[in-house]
Amino acid sequence: MKPLLLRALENSDSISRPPVWIMRQAGRYMEDYRALREKHDFLTVCRTPELAVEVTMQPIRFLNPDAAIIFSDILIPAAAMGIEVDFAPGPVMRNPIKSAADVNALRLPSIEKELNFTTTAISMMRGELDALSDNKALLGFAGAPWTLACYMIERGPFKHFENGLVFAQRFEKAMDSLLDKLTSVVSDYLIAQCEAGANAVQLFDSWGGVLSTEDYQRYSLPYIRRICENVRRAGYPVILYVGGSSHLLPTLVESGAHCLSVDWRLPLDQVEKIVGSGIAVQGNLNPAHLYGQPSEIYNRTRAMLSKLERRGGFIANLGHGILPTTPPENALQFVRAVQEGWEPANTTR
Ligand code: CP3
Repeated sequence: MKPLLLRALENSDSISRPPVWIMRQAGRYMEDYRALREKHDFLTVCRTPELAVEVTMQPIRFLNPDAAIIFSDILIPAAAMGIEVDFAPGPVMRNPIKSAADVNALRLPSIEKELNFTTTAISMMRGELDALSDNKALLGFAGAPWTLACYMIERGPFKHFENGLVFAQRFEKAMDSLLDKLTSVVSDYLIAQCEAGANAVQLFDSWGGVLSTEDYQRYSLPYIRRICENVRRAGYPVILYVGGSSHLLPTLVESGAHCLSVDWRLPLDQVEKIVGSGIAVQGNLNPAHLYGQPSEIYNRTRAMLSKLERRGGFIANLGHGILPTTPPENALQFVRAVQEGWEPANTTR
């Protein structure tokens, strides 16, 4: 049977409850992850299919969510393009892009040769999930061109991401060329992940929200549209996450994504009104709320679901990645509160 998450993406009214998973569900809040990281550094885990699969499976065993997301990082393709990336634990670029010549020097990596650890990990994960036979979806992912560009032009540590726009104005042509190159790499990378066994992909434009609508339409949306078109043409759905994006929602409806992943700044009924019924929505509990008492987490999750006015077209998640010191049993409480089932606000639709 089709994974619940795919049926939700198709806006199917026949589903009995929303699917649920957690952004960054594999990571430091889990003891098993910390133990594995004592032995292997972060990039080694990302680049070794057996380790990536083990880490991807850790939250599947503990939380039993409805989707797995392959363990990797949005900066892995940037490294394959020629940017030396370290994690300390936040990303640091050893040779950030400083000029048009640096953009010209970036390589378009062969996915098959240089990023095949990800596609291998995905096909191994496909086997793991199929063996569980409970219809869990497997998600691939990549960073959106704007967010990747913001990282690649700055050494780090990162705070406000204002340098993306500064670079764009100083080197307008180079910025276009950088975003073009990223669009091509990200499209090919996402399609390769789907062909290896991912059911859908999530595109992370984590720092899209720093832009005004006008700048977003100039520096992010056109590239995202091209990626969504490419992935859609290959036959796979795209979930688009844009952090801090309440002001961008009317614009994001034109992205070509099948689903918009939103943060907590707007309640879901307002989000649904803005995006309309043609696009699915994913979100949106504030990850900081996972530090509350279990009964509060339960109530907040149920309150979040009660805002929904439609049955299909929704995936429960947090509004951003889970925080590294979250008590794991609180994450479990969130997943269970969704899996209990639902009664949407307007069941007659
Ligand atoms: O379980 C999953 O969700 C899959 C794994 C995943 C990671 N990074 C692992 C990771 C995913 C989907 C990402 C995406 C990612 N990476 C994003 C987009 C999502 C978002 O949060 O907005 C961004 C912006 C990055 C860049 C990045 N990588 C940052 C800012 C950091 C440091 C922040 C932090 O959490 O400390 C990383 C490192 C990173 N990526 C870790 C993990 C588990 C921590 C590294 C460690 O183990 O020490």
